[in-house]
Amino acid sequence: MGWLGRDVISVLDFSREDLEALFSEADRARRGELAGALEGYIVALAFFEPSTRTRMSFESAAKRLGAETIGFTSEEATSVAKGESLHDTVKMLDSYADAIVIRHRFEGAATYAAEVAEHPVINGGDGRSRHPTQAFLDLYTVRDLFGSPEGLVYTILGDLRYARTAASLMEALTIYRPRKLYLVSPQLLRPRREHLDLLERSGVPFEVLGDVEEVIGETDVLYVVRVQKERFPDPQEYERVKGSYRVTPELLEKAKPTLKVLHPLPRVDEIDPRVDSTPHAAYFHQASLGVPLRMALLKLILKG
Ligand code: NCD
Repeated sequence: MGWLGRDVISVLDFSREDLEALFSEADRARRGELAGALEGYIVALAFFEPSTRTRMSFESAAKRLGAETIGFTSEEATSVAKGESLHDTVKMLDSYADAIVIRHRFEGAATYAAEVAEHPVINGGDGRSRHPTQAFLDLYTVRDLFGSPEGLVYTILGDLRYARTAASLMEALTIYRPRKLYLVSPQLLRPRREHLDLLERSGVPFEVLGDVEEVIGETDVLYVVRVQKERFPDPQEYERVKGSYRVTPELLEKAKPTLKVLHPLPRVDEIDPRVDSTPHAAYFHQASLGVPLRMALLKLILKG
């Protein structure tokens, strides 16, 4: 179907061919072949929720393509603080820019924005629901490290109930089949039914468990997510699970030498900083690939 003019709301809207095309384009971006490709374009960055990497990598990507960016980084800085609706804010951005990247604390905000806007809308994270460009980046990183995202043993560790990055990665792994997918979390943070149903329907071989030690020896990709403190309806529940899992060099002694640790970042305390200097650490490399991946995405959406 191609990328030109499309909204990016969920990973599941895209085919394997679409993703292959995206990854090839990201390879071109890394070779410097996309410089200046979007000269004269304007990309709006509408970040209603905090962000470091997603916003700055989109901004850097747009600039490296020769495009300009406009936008805001918090509701307080906009007329939303005066009571303006999401509808009106999106309508306005739509008339100022050629594409809109939106992050919002409410699930479904990007879908709604895409209904309001004529120009393409890219979901930069909506509530606990989805974060498709992070999942594209995760797959692209695994492809970079292992040659292909397919056929590997993945372990996703952490807050599988509220982390939208974990949710979008589970969706992505229905497109690139893992050999096995382990979903490891404290009891309170087990994956939601909708994701287990999706994996089941898609025939992904998976298992839900509580202790990462059981599967660390088999794992190729250990994907870690932080406890999503801001999404807990009950602060006492957060207190009960915070600090309940941690990746350490001692744990990784039991791993294959080729295991790579990924994390969408920010990390809080779930990866010991001593892991950074081991050959397993791949999360900073992953973050650095965010720019070429998002360059590829913007270029394909705006110019094909
Ligand atoms: C993630 C997010 O915002 O969902 N951050 C990111 O985009 N890299 C992960 C998180 O906040 O834990």
